[in-house]
Amino acid sequence: MKPTPDLRELVRYAKLARVNAHAPFSRFKVGAALRTRSGEIVTGCNIENATYGLTLCAERTAVFKAVSEGFKRFDAVAVVVDSPHIAAPCGPCRQILWEFCGDIWIHMQNLKGKSKTLRLAELLPLPFDRRNL
Ligand code: THU
Repeated sequence: MKPTPDLRELVRYAKLARVNAHAPFSRFKVGAALRTRSGEIVTGCNIENATYGLTLCAERTAVFKAVSEGFKRFDAVAVVVDSPHIAAPCGPCRQILWEFCGDIWIHMQNLKGKSKTLRLAELLPLPFDRRNL
């Protein structure tokens, strides 16, 4: 396993992105910051809507923004929440992160500084992807 990369700047960007979260229904604001292998940072926040089901999590917002801007290789994502516990990416986000980013670092942190850093393969063992098709 590679050593944990410096994540301070990534967390700073995730905190800034969290401020833009549109979460009037859950009031649970999430910020994400995805880093490319060449060092660019693309942020995302959760965006809810009145039907609930079309909600986009912060992680997927960041991935889709990055992909749409032409970025292809990633090494880490930071996810920041304001709750007593850190938040791990939900199942659909794990799948999307896996397919577009591969086995990247997942750094989860709350606003009090509690944190955990794992590889995505630890959160999504035995993934389904294009190799299965
Ligand atoms: N949410 C995220 O954005 N990322 C996560 O990792 C967990 C959940 C959002 C979705 C929804 O807007 C709110 O948090 C409550 O589930």
